[in-house]
Amino acid sequence: MVDLVFDGVVVAKAQVNIALIKYWGKAPAGRPEETNLPAVPSLSVSLDGLWTETSVRFDPDAATDHVTLDGERLEGEPLARCVALLDRVRELSDVASPFAVQSTNHVPTAAGLASSASGMAALAAAAVRCAGLGSGTGELASRIARIGSGSAARSIFGGWVAWDGPAARSLFPRDHLDVAVVIAIVDAERKTIGSRIAMNRTRESSPFYKGWVEQSQDTFVEGCEALERRDLVGLISAMEASTMRMHACAMGARPPILYWKPPSLAVIEQVQRLRSDGDLVLGWTMDAGPNVKVLCPGHDVQRVADTLARVDGVQRILISRPGRGVFVDVR
Ligand code: DP6
Repeated sequence: MVDLVFDGVVVAKAQVNIALIKYWGKAPAGRPEETNLPAVPSLSVSLDGLWTETSVRFDPDAATDHVTLDGERLEGEPLARCVALLDRVRELSDVASPFAVQSTNHVPTAAGLASSASGMAALAAAAVRCAGLGSGTGELASRIARIGSGSAARSIFGGWVAWDGPAARSLFPRDHLDVAVVIAIVDAERKTIGSRIAMNRTRESSPFYKGWVEQSQDTFVEGCEALERRDLVGLISAMEASTMRMHACAMGARPPILYWKPPSLAVIEQVQRLRSDGDLVLGWTMDAGPNVKVLCPGHDVQRVADTLARVDGVQRILISRPGRGVFVDVR
């Protein structure tokens, strides 16, 4: 073990991402470095303006790691996830000291967006840098972020990102395709069942899980190829298929998992109506919650946002665009 530890503070900022091709299910884990490997490949885009800022320092006098999020000290399972991630950093750097962590979410709490992705990515980036394991902006940070939350592996990188192995990887820069994401908030409550429990239950009890895993590679390749040729219609088609299949698979679990609310469906219908009217390219996706995210060309975003704001049950609209990768600063 190393006695002398870096005594500065490292601050990292990481953005939220949304999956176009979904991660839903974990591969069986044997060794600790296999924790939270995905059973299926996923493809995401980083979202600008929605991020977590986390400062990390060693605290050799503390008995254990302490983590605050938005001023509140974490305990129980949320703390355990951070500690598992930090344990891996300690293991790799051969440092025994506990960490002191302060984290602030700049994601509207009402958005129901997975802030665990940005949170765990910022934590991993800052801890990796603090422990002298590298820049905190590359492959190692992504592997370590994954331990805290699978989708966080993707939030290390900006723009369009694939995750199909131990770490995520950057596919294309954010300006590769000019799109915007409109987030229709239909329910500001905390989700009824978290994604980790839900995906494990799906794997254990849904008869559709096997089919979900079997088709995942094809949908992933379809999405990546459409993205590569800047084919938004093709990308949307793969995204909606992946979304529907993920939710269908979860609905087949025992007890069933249903994230959709009536206004979610109303938004989806409006998206379909706008599309069949013929002059707009747009598509929808949903994650482990009732809010709907709509992908459209950047120049159409205001029109799409205005139309969705008028759907019954939509409480709020957020607009975002492809964002940057994690930013790390040593103070
Ligand atoms: C529906 O990354 O939250 O958003 O790895 O257990 O922390 P854990 O799960 P998490 O799952 C995200 C699921 C999803 C789809 C996705 O982001 O790919």
